[in-house]
Amino acid sequence: MPQIKIFDTTLRDGEQSPGVNLNKPEKLEIARQLERMGVDRMEAGFPASSKGDFEAVKEIAKMIKNTSVTGLARTVKSDIDTAWEALKYAEEPRLHLFVATSPIHMTYKLKQSPDEVLENAVSMVRYASEKFSQVEFSAEDASRSDLTFLAQIIEKVIDAGATVINLPDTVGYTTPAEYGAMFRYIRENVPNIDKVELSCHCHNDLGLAVANSIAAVENGVTQVEGTINGIGERAGNASLEEVAVALRVRADYYPYSTGLNLEETKRTSDLIAKLTGMYVQANKAVVGRNAFQHEAGIHQDGMLKNKETYEIMTPEMVGVKADTLFLGKHSGRHAFKDRVKELGVNLSEAKVTEAFKMFKQLTDRKKEVTDDDLFTILMEIQTDTSAVNKYQLEMFQVQYGTSNIPTATVSLTAPDGNTIQTAQTGQGSVEALYKTLDALISEELELTDYQLNSVGRGKDALAESHVQLKVNGEMMNGRGTAQDVLQASVNAFLNAVNRYIIHQYSSKEEPVVNK
Ligand code: KIV
Ligand code: ZN
Repeated sequence: MPQIKIFDTTLRDGEQSPGVNLNKPEKLEIARQLERMGVDRMEAGFPASSKGDFEAVKEIAKMIKNTSVTGLARTVKSDIDTAWEALKYAEEPRLHLFVATSPIHMTYKLKQSPDEVLENAVSMVRYASEKFSQVEFSAEDASRSDLTFLAQIIEKVIDAGATVINLPDTVGYTTPAEYGAMFRYIRENVPNIDKVELSCHCHNDLGLAVANSIAAVENGVTQVEGTINGIGERAGNASLEEVAVALRVRADYYPYSTGLNLEETKRTSDLIAKLTGMYVQANKAVVGRNAFQHEAGIHQDGMLKNKETYEIMTPEMVGVKADTLFLGKHSGRHAFKDRVKELGVNLSEAKVTEAFKMFKQLTDRKKEVTDDDLFTILMEIQTDTSAVNKYQLEMFQVQYGTSNIPTATVSLTAPDGNTIQTAQTGQGSVEALYKTLDALISEELELTDYQLNSVGRGKDALAESHVQLKVNGEMMNGRGTAQDVLQASVNAFLNAVNRYIIHQYSSKEEPVVNK
């Protein structure tokens, strides 16, 4: 069976989802998990776009050994040079170079003629291939480009040294038959096409990204680009887990395989959902909470008689397990540390101690601590690695009743070490708390999203809150976990503010381009 290469762009196109901003430790954690899942290529970022992206790509390039690491660049020398500085440490440095080829993009965005675009693309691919052994060329908005021009530019960039040709459906406009036909046309009309790998990259504006990717595979594409959970710009990218599972489950129909370790799917999905705050909907294919639940009596009856009546794949195939009972009140540090390792989370000794303390506090109030609970705690601890002075919660108190005005009092330690305290009222408890925090914090704040979820089931389930907060005009996300919903909400709010403070401290340089 021909093997389809999986190119993951969660850390680049996925990170372009509105409101998502991952910090370096979070990106490293995701990169490690993508490697564990067995993606063939990972796009770690856009090195020329910001100092933060550059540093993260560099660290990932140094750390990852079993997946080829790539970075995005425009067809501009300085972008290619910057990308090389970040990626030269990789086992197999790979560059992803893109330029738009559709009439609308060339005329209005680039303000260049097709000849100018072609000439520039060829010279930049040639320049890049002097440094990189692997150069992917993307014709942005390929699906709305003129096919004759597309064939012409592809032939020329292959001669200049491109090793992969990617034809994105940048705006999620195409349909399966049309997208497949475009690849067929290119294969039939570009004489040197056999020298390169062909790749697809689909956006999901019409909900067709996975179907379009599979149509591309049926028409000779050997690399599929996408993201885990389908996160990304606007309606997102093709969900890699859906593409891979479709190929596996329908192996009778599609004679292609992938090298993905599918049992890592659920964990990868959970990690990305938690770190980005982009939770998947319950009915999402493959990784949604309900993907393996059978509600109707007639279905349950069928399942009891023979699982295959209603189940086309097993939850185990994608790593969905029943909640595992983890350690209890009497578990020691050693057993705890072993479990952390088994969950695949990398923690320093100091962080293990901090996590163990949180775990012990949790076992005082929660009888059964599951892997899911533990994973939630670890993610919260893992990503706060900075020694920068931040806001710390000293205490809060809320008065709420159906016949009085909700009032919150909060005390914080400010970054300068002083204790600050005030009280405010609101329409509800969370609003009162958030107004109080807003009054205490000197940054300009605007709350744009607030979510509250429970981790697992049961009366004693952990609460997990996620907020999006504009801090001095910059969109930050924050998350917080606690047994109490108000405590989780306060933690999430402070986490967003503190992430801003850390971000200001560690990346003083402005982005070079708009991502
Ligand atoms: O969607 C797109 O066209 C892209 C390119 C940069 C490859 O993400
Ligand atoms: Zn894209």
